[in-house]
Amino acid sequence: MRVLGIETSCDETGVALYDTECGLVADALHSQVAMHADYGGVVPELASRDHTRRLLPLIDQVLEQAAIGREQLDAIAYTAGPGLVGALMVGASTAHGMARALDIPVLGVHHMEGHLLAPMLEDEPPAFPFVALLVSGGHTQLVEVAGIGQYRLLGESVDDAAGEAFDKAAKMLDLDYPGGPRVAALAETGDPGRFQFPRPMTDRPGLDFSFSGLKTHTLTTIRQLESAGQLDAQARADVARAFEEAVADTLAIKCRRALKQTGLKRLVVAGGVSANVRLRARLEDATAKQGAKVYYPRGRFCTDNGAMIAYAGAQRLLAGERDVVGQMQAVPRWPMDQLSAPA
Ligand code: KG4
Ligand code: ZN
Repeated sequence: MRVLGIETSCDETGVALYDTECGLVADALHSQVAMHADYGGVVPELASRDHTRRLLPLIDQVLEQAAIGREQLDAIAYTAGPGLVGALMVGASTAHGMARALDIPVLGVHHMEGHLLAPMLEDEPPAFPFVALLVSGGHTQLVEVAGIGQYRLLGESVDDAAGEAFDKAAKMLDLDYPGGPRVAALAETGDPGRFQFPRPMTDRPGLDFSFSGLKTHTLTTIRQLESAGQLDAQARADVARAFEEAVADTLAIKCRRALKQTGLKRLVVAGGVSANVRLRARLEDATAKQGAKVYYPRGRFCTDNGAMIAYAGAQRLLAGERDVVGQMQAVPRWPMDQLSAPA
């Protein structure tokens, strides 16, 4: 089955073609990062308009790469949520319009299920069951995954998501949006021993996260350095390093705990923050002691992309799931544990 995947939930337009027999055939992405950078974050109306401009040319590009025509598609999968409602509607209406014209099935996919299954596109995919750490701009969750659609939430952030915390720390350090990669780059030259930031909620049992205290601590440290006239380039790098270490360590401690609690030996890490190199190293160190293995998507499939949507959609389309004709879905808030296994 040849499935076209469409992702438009936030600030990247992603398109891919996944063939259930041959694997990923083609994928293309347009990132809106440069467009939103001037505003310091995603401007929803601009995001929707840009998806509208980019989506059809990207679909043509993917079909050209795959050397097939539209009429050779067997189904279409699109991100139905969670995300920005206007942005979601661009993908949803395009997918439904194309599916209607081609008379093929179409299915709305959960964005976080896409992230969670992205490591399945790699050469050594994880087997079920596993624990998944989902760390993106909007979510920080630990999920026990028994199979596709069989998700038990083990813990989540009670306030900011890890990616959001990175983005806010970046703003405090006068770095551009999106902050994660910029904080990571600055942290490279930072001294890990200069500041010791808190590891929130690691001193009590449970698998929930909180990043707002760490954010306040970062701001307080920056202000103190500023008022002492010490906020030079090295100090900014040292703050970035301390912040990154604290996030990576906190996530690693909770992952180790989740593996222990579930008795599982496989950890999947996905979502934008899973691109963070220090986080990966920390997770590998922390879980190696437990004899566990860590699985990630390749770098460009950590952040939003069409391939993960094509893959996740294909699994459900194969099982016969599809949207009702003419009923597109755009669901801005959609808890992942409301999903069920494909029939
Ligand atoms: O998954 P994603 O592309 O979009 C959402 O679904 O939210 O994640 C975007 C988030 C942003 O907050 C971004 O700053 C963060 O992932 N991010 C990173 C890195 N690359 C992206 N955070 C830390 N280190 C990185 N290398
Ligand atoms: Zn995402």
